[in-house]
Amino acid sequence: MIPSVMAKLKIGVLGSGKGSNFRAILSEIEAGRLDAEPVIVMADVEGAGILDLARGAGIPAHVIREPRFCTKLSPEIETDVVRRLRDAGVELVVLAGYMRMVKQPLLEAFPRRVINIHPSLLPAFPGLEAWSQALAAGVEKSGCTVHFVDAGMDTGEIIAQAEVPVLPGDTPALLHARIQIEEHRIYPAVVARFAAGDLP
Ligand code: GRF
Repeated sequence: MIPSVMAKLKIGVLGSGKGSNFRAILSEIEAGRLDAEPVIVMADVEGAGILDLARGAGIPAHVIREPRFCTKLSPEIETDVVRRLRDAGVELVVLAGYMRMVKQPLLEAFPRRVINIHPSLLPAFPGLEAWSQALAAGVEKSGCTVHFVDAGMDTGEIIAQAEVPVLPGDTPALLHARIQIEEHRIYPAVVARFAAGDLP
């Protein structure tokens, strides 16, 4: 067999929370099943667990400070995020629990190279706490979606989905936990497709 000479896919990760999806991606890399290399992790929340995960793995971690806007970064700050991603050599931007809308500076810099994971079967239940929305709607199944990011709210082209049942007695926390098990399976698998060059 010819040994692989392909360089690892350099990923930049943006998050706001505990970072369990980032941890799932790291685990696949460490297990040798994913040819990717996280080169920078950024969070817009100081003290976010995802930053500790990065530091623990020896990956540069950076806090994005945005005092003025809430749902998105100001254009200047998002431009600075782009600069840091480019300086780190990032090829794919992975949103992992990042709670802001992404706008033009980032989307223009990385066309078809910004992806997100969302805890519902899009196009159903975009936006916040999608698992609570699913419970309130009384649906029998929910799940998660990996999609390309565009300027809308969870509206980009779908790359992969996984379903989970909604069970009698489910609480929002129980349903979210069941969805996250699938998130941790499909998100690394999608990153692997980019690493293999399967997603132009
Ligand atoms: C996940 O449910 C993901 O679908 C949503 O935010 C949550 C992030 O979880 N976008 P984590 O920080 O990866 O644990």
